[in-house]
Amino acid sequence: MKNTDHINNRRTFAIISHPDAGKTTLTEKFLLFGGAIQVAGAVKSNKIKKFATSDFMEIERQRGISVATSVMSFEYREILINLLDTPGHKDFAEDTFRTLTAVDSVILVVDSVNGVEEQTRRLMEVCRMRETPVIVFVNKMDRDGKNRFDLLEEIENELSIHLHPMTWPINSGKDFKGVYNLHDKNLLLFSAHTKGDEEGELPISDLEEKILDQKLGEKDASMLREDVELIAGVYGDLNKADYLSAKVAPVFFGSAINNFGVKEMLDTFIRIAPVPQCRPTSIREVCPTENKFSGFVFKIHANLDPRHRDRIAFLRVCSGKFERNKYYHHVRIDKDVRFSNPYSFMAREKTVLEDAYPGDVVGLFDTGNFKIGDTLTEGEDFFFTGIPSFSPEIFKEVQNKDPMKTKQLEKGLLQLTDEGVAQLFTQFGGNKKIIGCVGELQFEVIQYRLLHEYGASVQFNSLPFFKACWITSKDPKKLDEFIKFKSANIALDKDGHLVYLAQSEWFLNTERQNNPDIEFHFTSEIHK
Ligand code: G4P
Repeated sequence: MKNTDHINNRRTFAIISHPDAGKTTLTEKFLLFGGAIQVAGAVKSNKIKKFATSDFMEIERQRGISVATSVMSFEYREILINLLDTPGHKDFAEDTFRTLTAVDSVILVVDSVNGVEEQTRRLMEVCRMRETPVIVFVNKMDRDGKNRFDLLEEIENELSIHLHPMTWPINSGKDFKGVYNLHDKNLLLFSAHTKGDEEGELPISDLEEKILDQKLGEKDASMLREDVELIAGVYGDLNKADYLSAKVAPVFFGSAINNFGVKEMLDTFIRIAPVPQCRPTSIREVCPTENKFSGFVFKIHANLDPRHRDRIAFLRVCSGKFERNKYYHHVRIDKDVRFSNPYSFMAREKTVLEDAYPGDVVGLFDTGNFKIGDTLTEGEDFFFTGIPSFSPEIFKEVQNKDPMKTKQLEKGLLQLTDEGVAQLFTQFGGNKKIIGCVGELQFEVIQYRLLHEYGASVQFNSLPFFKACWITSKDPKKLDEFIKFKSANIALDKDGHLVYLAQSEWFLNTERQNNPDIEFHFTSEIHK
């Protein structure tokens, strides 16, 4: 097979949603269609329902599962689909944002009862920013949901995206009768727990046909006729280019738990979803069709096995062909590295792979060489850009409770913060270690993992900061003065870059006004 065939054959995407909208359930149905699993219930949700450590510990115990479900590759109708998992919990939003840099499109699940929820809004902002094509799945139509037109309007307004209905529901809740496929012109009658084959489909090219009244009853049949006329007038045919340029999002209605309306979406997905795309780097755009291999690390996951402190770095292949045992250039550390046991995630099993193509995700064993955002190439010096490193919002001082384990603590802090869930700072001119996160839950996770994986016991003391800003200046003297004057608020990040920790928005604005020669940056990307 030629490289271009491999590329055209692949779709790499993520399912995103507010927790509980049905992401896990939908993922499972996809895997069933792809033959990657045989029974429902095989995918464990790695969501955190309650905000308690005990839940996280439970998840930790299931870590093998969550590593395996971080990427799920399966084939459907001869297309190789790479589905990247994203944590729904908001405290892990950073992880989700980074995963979005490794996909070419997303499927957004919206709960028909709750409509657009907070996490959906935040995730969609990132998709909009990156111009990622989106397909929307309105789930739980078997429950009494919002009025279908109101819901569309809400999604359009709240997410600032134009929608294009591909299927159209007939009622919801206990009156839910099914969906009409506007594209294929057939009626899909609802029944709980469908197999998802063509069985329930009824071709109806002309909605005036009497069979519609027989199947739906006169009232619902005439409502559907009116709805469809209205939709056809407003939306017309889907323009694929508008979808690919993220201007329009096709919408499907269904019920994931009942495997209803899912196949329609999957069939459309493989027809219209983008193949692996070009990506920006520090020097130029890199396209999948280039001969030379390149890729970047978007996620690092600690391994389950406590006997080996290995981690798995997830690398998205962006161009060329990745090969096992071949030397590649690790741009940041300027070293050549090779991998004898790279993983693929086919059929939810980790298997050693010989080669991988653009759009694929490769799991690399890592003993501490990788950081989020690291780039591998065949020698060229560039790095992929746009991998966000968000400014933390909660800061705590690390207090070592067991001085005998200082070395283990330092190692643990460095390794865990490399995974990207938290950032590590050191007080300027001192030794105080400060951890910055976007969510409280991460502190519990870090405390737990430091103890269980490194034997280090810590306590966290809250600090009165709300934002970290990387500071630079064209005038070194001015920068020196600022640091001296504000030393209690200055820290160094892991790479030794200067960071100003602001107590409040007011302080930050005041400092910016008073110090026009100092530049305040909200991500550390400026230093790459
Ligand atoms: P998430 O990954 O987005 O957090 O959601 P998940 O799939 O775990 O679904 C959240 C809950 O919604 C689950 O119920 C799931 O069974 C239910 N659900 C998913 N799709 C549908 C649907 O189409 N209709 C209805 N009525 N419910 C749906 P749960 O009680 O929280 O969990 P479980 O005990 O069923 O596993």
